[in-house]
Amino acid sequence: MSKRKRIGILTSGGDCPGLNAVIRAVVIHATQSYNWEVLGIPYATQGLLERKCFPLNAHGMDLHGIDPLLNMGGTILGSINKGQTLDEADEIITNYHLMGFDALIAIGGEGSLAILQQLAQKGNWKMVGVPKTIDNDVAFTERAVGFDTAVNTITDAMNRLTFTAASHDRVMVVEVMGRDVGHLALHAGIAGGADVILIPEIPYSLDGICQKILDLREQWGRKFALVVVAEGAKTLQGEARSYTDAFGEVRLRGIGEYIADQIAKCSKAETRVTVLGHVQRGGMPSALDRIVATSFGKAAVDLIAAEKYGLMVTWQNGSVSEVSLADVFTHSPMPVDPNGFLLQTAIGLGVYVGELDHPNFSPSTARCIVTV
Ligand code: F6P
Repeated sequence: MSKRKRIGILTSGGDCPGLNAVIRAVVIHATQSYNWEVLGIPYATQGLLERKCFPLNAHGMDLHGIDPLLNMGGTILGSINKGQTLDEADEIITNYHLMGFDALIAIGGEGSLAILQQLAQKGNWKMVGVPKTIDNDVAFTERAVGFDTAVNTITDAMNRLTFTAASHDRVMVVEVMGRDVGHLALHAGIAGGADVILIPEIPYSLDGICQKILDLREQWGRKFALVVVAEGAKTLQGEARSYTDAFGEVRLRGIGEYIADQIAKCSKAETRVTVLGHVQRGGMPSALDRIVATSFGKAAVDLIAAEKYGLMVTWQNGSVSEVSLADVFTHSPMPVDPNGFLLQTAIGLGVYVGELDHPNFSPSTARCIVTV
């Protein structure tokens, strides 16, 4: 009788809706199809450092246990989102083996998965990655868990803001997350009917923004407008708006207020700012995120059953596939493609998206701006 496999699972980096749906799929599929043990590791590498884990199968598959995870936001395992240093790599690796895991399913963004893959290679762990992040900047997967729900959340906020903007003839500026890429701002900007969409990949000019607001008034007779600004959007000189927090971390913040002030000054329109912040990370997962998460969880278990490691499950052409984690890291974070159909769609609808034809900007530098 072969030894019953012990599978560890952890969530690392910023949380998002759908994480628990991945966990649920892993536990159900691993238990019912392979009779494996599944152990939750709390707070990612912190849990390994403290040698903590707990059985997830024991919760049972009823409404009191695993099943409700399908629609629960956040992660029952907890997560950490700070630059995990590799200084404690040896202790983490030693504990991993002492805890007797046969394999690990790591649910994380490109940063977390890169750190965990380094630990896996150094410690000879058998690991499979599952991409999650509302930023959707993980290479080789059309979707990371959490992205669709965040787009819906921003779109809902924009629907609400449209009515108050129109009632007061105001320009509403919505600052959204996305760190160094603009997928959230672009998708939600189009879905929410934004007149201006600013993303880190394309530098903006204040004159360009202002002209769009004035054109709406003069050509369309519309005095209100919606402006979506990614938190990492940059001036033509490549400057974003940031501050250093109490822990010495440089945080993106302030672009919304800045853009609103500049619009007020140049167009004389009344402006108001909404910073959606961590509302974009909350809530119950959308149907699509539940489908993607459940598919990823099942696929990750099957990769372990096939003894295929060092891979990340991906969503490609509406189906699940896999790619080597090494390839993911060399191509992440994946920026918005300035020549891509979605950006071209926004441009075709007359949305101001920044200075694509600025002399010191070209699609290749977009990658440079994002990845520098
Ligand atoms: O990577 C996801 C993300 O939400 C980014 O969009 C955002 O800039 C960052 O995490 C916020 O990190 P924290 O939750 O640590 O404030």
